[in-house]
Amino acid sequence: MLVNGDAVEVDVPGMRRLLDVLREDLGLSGTKEGCGEGECGACSVLLDGELVDACLVPICQVDGHVVRTVEGLAGRAVDGQPDLSQLDVVQSAFLETGGAQCGICTPGMLMAAHAFLASGADPTDEAIREAIAGNLCRCTGYTKIVDAIVLAAHSASQPPVE
Ligand code: FES
Ligand code: FES
Repeated sequence: MLVNGDAVEVDVPGMRRLLDVLREDLGLSGTKEGCGEGECGACSVLLDGELVDACLVPICQVDGHVVRTVEGLAGRAVDGQPDLSQLDVVQSAFLETGGAQCGICTPGMLMAAHAFLASGADPTDEAIREAIAGNLCRCTGYTKIVDAIVLAAHSASQPPVE
């Protein structure tokens, strides 16, 4: 599989969750676990550009596919780690509007925002709220998150599709 543009091989049981492979086997702890049951969206990642709950995806279904996690959004420093001085347009918008507070939902929200923006849908309040309906936030009341996605949608540079 490709993870954030890197070819990755893991030798694990086929039913191991993508979430555990990302966090424990690959050290990509930006993807969070909330409910572990597909209800909260904290574990959202892009699989071939589609938003999925990584807690529900067995790794055997990911072989040969493309995964993007929150670590794959910012630019990279020379050591290959995310360069936080090169945030992508959605991350910057969340910072600007205050769309992130405790941060637990934020990686999943960012990935949901990317999936929404890549869909080309009109960024209305209603459409955005529908797009993030599977991502729960206990802190922000959602308004600042919606504002961030609107801001990103109107930014000159659009985020990558996958
Ligand atoms: S941890 Fe996957 S949906 Fe909640
Ligand atoms: S910012 Fe805390 S759960 Fe969303």
